[in-house]
Amino acid sequence: MQRFAIALAAILALVLGRPALADEPIIIKFSHVVAPDAPKGKAAVLFKELAEKYTNGRVQVEVYPNSSLYKDKEELEALQLGSVQLLAPSISKFGPLGVKEFDVFDLPFLMSDDAHARQMMASPMMDDLNKKLEAKGVSPLAYWDNGAHVYTCNRQLIWPDDFRGLKMRIQGSKVLDAVARELGALPQILPFSAVYQSLQTGVVDGEDNVPSNIWTQKFYEVQRYLTVSHHGRLTYALVTNKAFWNSLPDDVRTQLDRAVKETTEFFNATAAKDNADALEKIKASGKTEVHVLTDAERKAWIAKLMPVHTEMQSRFGKDFIERIYKASGFTPPQS
Ligand code: LMR
Repeated sequence: MQRFAIALAAILALVLGRPALADEPIIIKFSHVVAPDAPKGKAAVLFKELAEKYTNGRVQVEVYPNSSLYKDKEELEALQLGSVQLLAPSISKFGPLGVKEFDVFDLPFLMSDDAHARQMMASPMMDDLNKKLEAKGVSPLAYWDNGAHVYTCNRQLIWPDDFRGLKMRIQGSKVLDAVARELGALPQILPFSAVYQSLQTGVVDGEDNVPSNIWTQKFYEVQRYLTVSHHGRLTYALVTNKAFWNSLPDDVRTQLDRAVKETTEFFNATAAKDNADALEKIKASGKTEVHVLTDAERKAWIAKLMPVHTEMQSRFGKDFIERIYKASGFTPPQS
């Protein structure tokens, strides 16, 4: 009898003493590689605020900016393992996941035009690509458009031949590799966290990115020239671990979907202005000379880089590339 009473008391103490598991907040670790004041950095913080508000604190979001938790490649592995719950990587980095199709969006000048990019990301074709990610245990929740790429370098890049022999940092996409080689440059894949130092020490001569990253990571301090070329684009996919997301209570997931939707609207509404402001600040810094390609120069770049589209037919298939053209509204220039 006495032992039963002790056991009962212990259990009651355990249950009453400790907050019930159900009361424990659900922790979402959101890791990313950019600065807190870059468009993605601000969006991550907004998501945290909205998610915690809409779930009345049942969810707690921990944001890890500037590769403070995981660097580029590591973060996707960590997501698949469930060590982190949210990421928003560039879709140019999905190759290592085994979903090479996302590299297609790096085809030169395919996504230069904002309308083309938005049309592409909203097209039903994305459903097929999303399913390929889901098959890897990664669920895409939204796409964030961070605008068109510009080049920075310590040599002025006006004509395609100016790239000859340069070491250029690229993200891990096979298409970006082909673009650099077509220009006669030597591509080097580097994690974002290593770019500033690699530019500063001359490990690489240049890189391409969006102005808000060039400004917030201070690349302009170590790059004498910037060319507004808009030859590519930086699109993020807000992704989660599929098993984690499916394990959430329905009401919590509904509120998180709402937070995702509002954060996406915020991102797509503010990134363009952030990038335009960053370009003005880089100009005003006096540290980097900014050149906007003239029509004639742009024509020369397009002519130089269109062979990459043809080369990539063997990688993606001619039919797939033509479906991408149709979905994005891109028309290859007549040679
Ligand atoms: C890069 O690696 O240059 C970018 O994808 C970084 C980022 O996430 O904006």
